[in-house]
Amino acid sequence: MARTPESEIRVNGELINPSPAYSHPLSADVYELLYREKDYKAEVEWIKSIIDEVGLSESRSLLDVGCGTGLHLMYLQRYFPEIAGLDLSTSQIAKAKTRLSNVKLTTGDMEEFDLGRQFAVVTNLYGAIGNLYSRPMIDRGVRSMVRHTTPGGLIVIQPWDTPDTFNYHKPLRFDTMSSSDGTQHISRMSTFISQPLEGEEGRLDTTCSYTYGRTAGNKTVIDFFVDRQSLGIYRPETYAEVLQKAGATNVWIKDPPPHLSSRVKPLVVARM
Ligand SMILES: C[S@@+](CC[C@H](N)C(=O)[O-])C[C@H]1O[C@@H](n2cnc3c(N)ncnc32)[C@H](O)[C@@H]1O
Repeated sequence: MARTPESEIRVNGELINPSPAYSHPLSADVYELLYREKDYKAEVEWIKSIIDEVGLSESRSLLDVGCGTGLHLMYLQRYFPEIAGLDLSTSQIAKAKTRLSNVKLTTGDMEEFDLGRQFAVVTNLYGAIGNLYSRPMIDRGVRSMVRHTTPGGLIVIQPWDTPDTFNYHKPLRFDTMSSSDGTQHISRMSTFISQPLEGEEGRLDTTCSYTYGRTAGNKTVIDFFVDRQSLGIYRPETYAEVLQKAGATNVWIKDPPPHLSSRVKPLVVARM
């Protein structure tokens, strides 16, 4: 049975109900500020080197599933003339549209989607797959990605934490980040409200409380909002097995090269 720590979030003494993750209109701004030090360019170069290594250097089309604000796509479009993105969050997709003109960006659910075409490469990066939090959800999401991949094409999945890397003993976490010019600040406090037993795969429920302050001219605004998210903690080997069952002819688990940050997660790469 899953461990169920208790948690309460109060504002001025009142208990509050969180909204779904990434549904707040500010979620894209907050996401980009929190992860502003992430090196998307270096990650894309690593992914491209793997695509070349498996003999698909001539690929022209790529779909990024769970594309967020489009930062991987911004660098991927240097290599792939036909790119597209899919994300559930209208805020993330709206932000992606500001940097990717003439790119098809769709609001949709990775568990079940139909863009009406196939791509040589389909990516799912930076833990987006974690939003599928049970095996049936993962099976359906992987099948949707397979349907969008040309025969002989590649699926690249980057899981987030796994049962071997997740710290099951830290139910309260805190991150902060500021913009380089010091006019914006974000703090995030996360609590885990249910999680699998230590070392096991399964569903983790979490809430995050954000305080986002920024100054423009002589005006300062502070927003506070809370969201909740269910995430799946699964091993890369489990995604590899699901991909194999869905028809992959070859599957590799690729560790990041030493020059990338130690926080960059391995990739599960499948040839269809
Ligand atoms: C951790 S972020 C990663 C975003 C992006 N890949 C990046 O590297 O910046 C996870 C993304 O998955 C999206 N997402 C969550 N559930 C989803 C779903 N069911 N279908 C599609 N996208 C989803 C979120 O809106 C969010 O943009």
